[in-house]
Amino acid sequence: MATMRDWKEDRASSRFSGPLRLGLAAWLVWLFTPALLGKEPVKAKEPVKTKEAPTFTRDVAPILQAKCQLCHRRRHVGPFALETYEQARKRASDIAYVTGERSMPPWKPAPGVGPSLKHDQSLSREEIATLVAWADAGAPKGDPKDMPPPPKFAEGWKLGPPDLILEPTEDYSIAPSSPDTYRCFVLPTNLTKDTYVSAIDFRPGNAKVVHHINAFLDTTGAARKRDEADPGSGYTSFAGPGIEAYEELCFWATGHVASHLPDGIGIRFPKQSDVILQVHYHPTGKPEVDRTRLGIYFSRKPVKQALHWNAASNSDFQLPAGKPDIEIKASWYIPVDLEVLAVSPHMHGLGHDMRVVVTLPNGRTNDLIHIPSWDPSWQSSYYFQKPIPVPKGSVVKVIAHFDNSSHPRNPNQPPKLVTWGQNASDEMCEGFLAVAKKGQDLTLPRAVDDLADIFAMQRIRKMRKQMMTRPSSR
Ligand code: HEC
Repeated sequence: MATMRDWKEDRASSRFSGPLRLGLAAWLVWLFTPALLGKEPVKAKEPVKTKEAPTFTRDVAPILQAKCQLCHRRRHVGPFALETYEQARKRASDIAYVTGERSMPPWKPAPGVGPSLKHDQSLSREEIATLVAWADAGAPKGDPKDMPPPPKFAEGWKLGPPDLILEPTEDYSIAPSSPDTYRCFVLPTNLTKDTYVSAIDFRPGNAKVVHHINAFLDTTGAARKRDEADPGSGYTSFAGPGIEAYEELCFWATGHVASHLPDGIGIRFPKQSDVILQVHYHPTGKPEVDRTRLGIYFSRKPVKQALHWNAASNSDFQLPAGKPDIEIKASWYIPVDLEVLAVSPHMHGLGHDMRVVVTLPNGRTNDLIHIPSWDPSWQSSYYFQKPIPVPKGSVVKVIAHFDNSSHPRNPNQPPKLVTWGQNASDEMCEGFLAVAKKGQDLTLPRAVDDLADIFAMQRIRKMRKQMMTRPSSR
């Protein structure tokens, strides 16, 4: 089990792993291009003093294969393929630019902040330096013999065949010029007994249009009613699933890699519950259809701790029209000893950046994650390498900034006052955490999982307090 000390060591080692691992060539490029990590474009006008310029076949292709082709290959979500020399040569300076400003690959967490994350898809400084130096050298091809064989992308389920595959009964059509659509599909599990799950994965039917996926559990039948009331497969709901009571299951951008929860931790699917699969579709300009499938893996080992999502959230804020930099904070007092497995920041189009930290009872503050340039299209959940212990009495804090000036992501033109809400024209400020109760042992006779109820009581108390303290001026 991870301890607070492990976490500190983790953080220390991730800090060292950056600069110390840099090669000499990378250092030289780094010195000449101070903007590498900043927002400015990487111009790299200075001559790069490496022994010899990187070549496509030897140096660049392996990076594109490992970090880009997941999306930039035929029939996938990237707007063009980066598989051949010709495809990459045409875009060499764009590649240097987007990787230099770290907008591609779309891995949003700031490097080196907080505990290390699973499946970190970011580029190392060395890799960025190679791509920049290659573009500067005029994108040389190199010796064809150096070209690595094309990677084999697992076309099947990456974790092996799931125990249960859920899919909508019909295809969903995405019109060429429709706006981005958030469509919720209600998928009955038909489980005849409560079941613990150790992993959830998904496979888009049409990877060109599926941008991100959220999933929720419904035990009330409310989602089925919404589905019946909406023509076609599923129903449309932005933000959440648009029903009163549900449990969060996962939040994933394209490119997310699924993994099993640690042994002994599981997600409880009550019998006969429905999964609500919410797919964010990004139209391509052509008529498209999709039927995304969800794969569920049952826990193989006895489950002692149940996983739940809960958030440090603020639903009582105002974002005045025209203001470019508004700080909003949220906090969550930790009511029992917890272990944190994952973090998932959430805002809508006005979000600019978010930091999630935890202040321990001894007053020390540790980072959990920092998203320096928020992009709602690339929101995801980030799993820690090891669960992070967060003792009772700690406070999880969210510090977010919103930009309500006129910009392309502002849904209101001209900008207007925005408050909390579930619609695209409203805002949210949430730092979701996936947590388990420390010391919980659900294998013991009569043990019950009371964590969701503890969180629900906290929310009710918070709402009561807000109602008491707010002047009744509405
Ligand atoms: C998880 C999927 C994914 C990965 C991985 C990815 N891209 Fe992209 N890329 C996209 C999508 C989708 C777009 C279209 C713009 C958007 O939605 O942000 C894009 C756009 C781009 C653009 C055009 C940007 C612009 O502003 O016009 C470039 C250049 C690019 N990617 C290069 C790369 C490179 C180089 C890598 C690897 C180092 C990479 N991408 C990795 C999905 C991805």
